[in-house]
Formats: sequence, structure tokens, C-alpha cells
Amino acid sequence: MKRIIIAIDGFSSCGKSTMAKALARNIGYLYFDSGAMYRAVALYCMQNGLINGSSIDTETLRSRMGEIHITFEADPETKNSLTFLNGVNVEHEIRSLEVSQVVSQVAALDFVRSEMIEQQRAMGEKKGIVMDGRDIGTTVFPNAEMKVFVTASAEVRAQRRYDELTARGDNANFQEILDNVLLRDHIDQTREVSPLKQADDALLLDNSNLTREQQMEWLIEQFNNITR
Ligand code: DC
Repeated sequence: MKRIIIAIDGFSSCGKSTMAKALARNIGYLYFDSGAMYRAVALYCMQNGLINGSSIDTETLRSRMGEIHITFEADPETKNSLTFLNGVNVEHEIRSLEVSQVVSQVAALDFVRSEMIEQQRAMGEKKGIVMDGRDIGTTVFPNAEMKVFVTASAEVRAQRRYDELTARGDNANFQEILDNVLLRDHIDQTREVSPLKQADDALLLDNSNLTREQQMEWLIEQFNNITR
């Protein structure tokens, strides 16, 4: 069976990573989380004093890009993908609220994007990968054999985040979460470099009313159609 590249892009809080991870596991492919790479660069900036309030020392960051090496390794126990920044496991830190608050600014810098895109392309050299993000099917792998663009209504996505937060015991306000989902959609779609948009040849997956099982069934069917 031919090995391909699968690009999964879409709006935030659509369950892209969970879906991409499960798909990769099911078909024996490697999974790469491109958002984790932008998060690792944001963490590097925080650790090296390159962020002051909401301003980034872009010139220093530009001169240090060659020193930022991001790699992925499978957790020996869970087999989940772990993110390493210059050899150190940062999987936990990159998911912190502090990183989430600055990452979109870091991801909007053109020199950061071009460096990450180069590293992402190298990860796909041998094919057999699932990568998720915002610009994988449009910019990173425009020739990916399978492209999926995931969406769900803003209300459904806000409800999922609300449920996740309350399940963790956090305080959550539905309207605040919905406003944040809408704001992030707007930022993602209107930024100058690599804005989020569906590639012309991407399959649209609206998972507002799908269970995880139905979604996986659909993905596997598309995968089989393409690789058979
Ligand atoms: O998917 P995520 O929330 O982990 O992504 C983190 C940030 O990186 C978010 O601001 C979107 C951005 N991102 C991007 O610009 N391009 C990608 N391919 C992946 C993520």
C-alpha cells in the first residue's frame, strides 16, 4: 500500500489533534503536531527573556532561530508524541496558559514560520505521516495526497471547551469561551502570513454532530479510497 502525507487543518477546538493522533495510530503512521512547534518557540522566547509583556524581541529571536531545535519522540509508556526543545522534554510546559497567551504572536512572525515549515517538510520526507495545524495542506505540504479541513460550529466548539474545563474542576463561563473561540477564528483567518483557509482540494469535515467513532470511520474510508 502506498504511503502518503495526511494534512489536517482547521479551526481551534475542533478536536484536530485527538483525531490526527487516533488516525495515525490506526494506520501505523507517525503523528506530528505543528502547533507544538510554535508553542516550543514561544517557550524558548519566555525562557530567554525575549518576551516583555505583549512585546517580542523579534531581532534577537531572528538571530537565534538557528539555535532552536524541535524534535518529537514517542513516550515509551503511552506512545504519545512528546515535544523536545533543544533535547529537553517540554511537552507539559508548552500547554501552559502562559504559552497559549503568547503563541499566536510568535506564530505570526514570518521568519519563525519559514524555519518551522522547513523543519516540518523534513519530517514528511519519508511520507507515512499525519500532521495537524493551520497551514499544512495549503503551505507546508501543498501536494499532500490527503487533506482534511475540520470545522464545527462555534457554539459546539465552545461547549466542548466548557465541558473540558468544568470536568477538570475549573470555573468556566460559556459566553466568555464562545467570545474567545470567535476571536481566535478571526485572528487565524485574517493574519497576513499563512492565514487559516481550506485548501481547494481538501475534504471538508464538519464534526458538529459526529461521534469520535463516526469521524474515524469517515477518515479511514477516505484514507482507503486514496491509498487503494
Ligand atoms: O493548535 P495549537 O493551539 O497548539 O496551535 C498553537 C498556535 O500555533 C496557534 O496560535 C495557531 C498556531 N499554529 C499555526 O499558526 N500554524 C500551524 N501550522 C499550527 C499552529
